[in-house]
Amino acid sequence: MNVLGVETSCDETAVAIVRDGRSILANMIASQIELHKRFGGVYPELASRQHVLAITPALDQALAAAQFGWDQIDAIAATQGPGLAGSLVVGLNFAKGLALARGLPFIGINHLEGHIYTAWLVRNPEEEAGVPHPEFPALILIVSGGHTELVLMHGHGEYELLGHTLDDAAGEAFDKVARLLGLPYPGGPHVQRVAAAGNPNAFDLPRAMLPGSYDFSFSGLKTAVLRIVEKYTPTASMGAAATRSPTVMRELPVADLAASFQQAVVDVLVAKTRQAAEEFKVRQVLIVGGVAANAPLRQQMAVAIGELGVTFHYPAPVLCTDNAAATAAAAYYHLQRGETSSLGIDVAPSLRLQGAGSR
Ligand code: KG4
Ligand code: ZN
Repeated sequence: MNVLGVETSCDETAVAIVRDGRSILANMIASQIELHKRFGGVYPELASRQHVLAITPALDQALAAAQFGWDQIDAIAATQGPGLAGSLVVGLNFAKGLALARGLPFIGINHLEGHIYTAWLVRNPEEEAGVPHPEFPALILIVSGGHTELVLMHGHGEYELLGHTLDDAAGEAFDKVARLLGLPYPGGPHVQRVAAAGNPNAFDLPRAMLPGSYDFSFSGLKTAVLRIVEKYTPTASMGAAATRSPTVMRELPVADLAASFQQAVVDVLVAKTRQAAEEFKVRQVLIVGGVAANAPLRQQMAVAIGELGVTFHYPAPVLCTDNAAATAAAAYYHLQRGETSSLGIDVAPSLRLQGAGSR
């Protein structure tokens, strides 16, 4: 079954074609980073309008990349939420229109479920045989710009939410700290880049372990970084730091602070994931979402989970950040169960993981 997926939950306009929830036949991603950079974050109205402009070319490119005609597409899927309402509307309605025009089944997909199913994807049909499917029960750490959730997955579509962030998401913390350090948006990759030249032990930053819970909290860490930045640049504030003059910024040990911050985030994510993997005796640990592209997180999680004798897997970096292959992969498993959506569905900007009971 070939599913055409559409994703416009935030600032990537993406269209993909995925076979059987597994093999990526096309994965077009038109990034809006350059457009939003000057605002230091996503400007929602601009994002919606750019989706309108970029979505038809992305569809044409996806069909061309897969060398597909419409007769080879079996279903259409689009991200329904969570995300920015004005952005979601563009992709969801575009996908509904395609389904209506082509007489194909349609399904709205939860973006978090999309992130989860990136762990099932392989880059092309040749890789399919060599990469085993994740096994259940699986523990999934979703770390993106909007979410930080630890999920126990018992089977396809069976989720149990173990914990989530009480304040900032991990990616949001990376983005806010990047701003404080005068680094461009989106902050995560830039923090990782400058941190590579820094000492992760240079600053003693807090790690909110929240004993007895699988919840997360990153706002204390972010504030601790702000206090240090203030010592170097007395007028620093969350918004003002990005426009600090280069002379003043030079005094700030950016690399050491970035490395210490990154290590504090990684320590918390690794410790909690390892603990849950042990408690629930999972067969597999998966990390997904934009922050799962972070190299030190991948390396240190691999060591910690490896020590438990549990299999650990993370998607290729291009599948960690937003993409439509994720949407198409998650859709396949719903469609296999006979589930489709009505063309009357609305976007769901605050959608939570469906069926996710919590402890
Ligand atoms: O999954 P995603 O593309 O969008 C959401 O659904 O939120 O995640 C984007 C987030 C941003 O906060 C970005 O800074 C972060 O992922 N990110 C990273 C890295 N690459 C992207 N954070 C840390 N290290 C990275 N290498
Ligand atoms: Zn995302």
